Amino acid sequence: MGMIETVRSVVRLKPIVLDPVERRLAKAADVSDLRRMAKRRLPAGVFDYIDGGAEDERSLERNVAAFERIEFKPRVLRDVSKVDTTATILGQPRPLPLVLSPTGFTRIADPQGELAVARAAARRGLPYSLSTMGTRSIEDVAAVSDGPKWFQVYTWKDRGLVKDLLDRAAATGYEAILLTIDTAVLGRRERDVRRGYTLPPKVGLDTIIDGIVHPQWTLDFLRNEPITFASVATNNSASDGSSAVSLSAYMNSQFDAALSWRDVEWLQSVWDGPIVLKGVQTVADAKLAVEAGVEAIALSNHGGRQLDGAPSIIELVEPVAQEVGGQIEILCDGGIRRGSDIVKALALGATGAMIGRAYLYALGAAGERGVDHVLDFLADGVERTMALSGAQQLSDITRDLVTWRATPASESVGD
Ligand code: GLV
Repeated sequence: MGMIETVRSVVRLKPIVLDPVERRLAKAADVSDLRRMAKRRLPAGVFDYIDGGAEDERSLERNVAAFERIEFKPRVLRDVSKVDTTATILGQPRPLPLVLSPTGFTRIADPQGELAVARAAARRGLPYSLSTMGTRSIEDVAAVSDGPKWFQVYTWKDRGLVKDLLDRAAATGYEAILLTIDTAVLGRRERDVRRGYTLPPKVGLDTIIDGIVHPQWTLDFLRNEPITFASVATNNSASDGSSAVSLSAYMNSQFDAALSWRDVEWLQSVWDGPIVLKGVQTVADAKLAVEAGVEAIALSNHGGRQLDGAPSIIELVEPVAQEVGGQIEILCDGGIRRGSDIVKALALGATGAMIGRAYLYALGAAGERGVDHVLDFLADGVERTMALSGAQQLSDITRDLVTWRATPASESVGD
């Protein structure tokens, strides 16, 4: 009897949450949960476009898996009652060493697309990078975000168009430019090849069937204005992305495979602010970036979507930092799924980390509130990891906070 009383006194009914998005997010404990939810909600072709990588997806897998090999050497009994995650990114104080990477076609994950992500980033004071292949325009994103904004460019064959985009970004308060340098040609994403996937998604028999299985997405897609490359479309370019084409056909027609370091000079001559070179994958090119005088590099293999077999990004941070650390800011983009991953990157010498898929999964899972959720999750994760490893501020996250394991734990048994 006494025992039943005790049990009854501690059992409480959970409050019933009526809001379906809130209910969903309450169950999203990490990025893999958000990924699973996005997979359920998005048509298979859309999910695979976001989730997939080039060829055998080895670089994609290794980007994520390499973090497993990093182990903390946590320090204890250091007063961590106050943990300060303030970072300096492109010379500016930011609340977290985190930047939102540019992603193309964001509106395929959610009708608000880039606007949702930009608003969530602005609420946290984090830089949001808008892609040239974005489906919201430079001006529309600027109108909803007074947070730090970066604009991503390729050096397209049509330099006049690039110059025009840069002028518009400058006029609307974007503070930095990311130049993507790993897309001389487009990588072969074989999930898209198998599905005959086009962007924007074309409504064919398979998409109709997929649409019936994913009614909410289909309704949103049909109800909202057509998906275009919003920044480029307003330029009246012939290829504004409004007609369905295979991505590789479109991008290969625009990319300039002759891109070289001279083009970096050209960009410096037409853009006044900081420049980030995104897609550096070797120590040798990191050194050339320092010589070129850009403010930052983003170590990136484009989320494993370009050259399959390119090095995993977190493994590149330390050798690059040893060579050019202190001379240039080093961002790293690839495989970040937790706050602890960001701390690991900093320990190895990165200035900050970037996320792409992590926020796209969140957007596909639960729209703008999903992005808020994943940013909270990453911020909490950085703070908790710092507290548990004895770091009060980012300058305490030094190389001796981590060590490389010889093999991943999952491979150390058997074979
Ligand atoms: C575009 O840059 C993509 O990776 O799909």
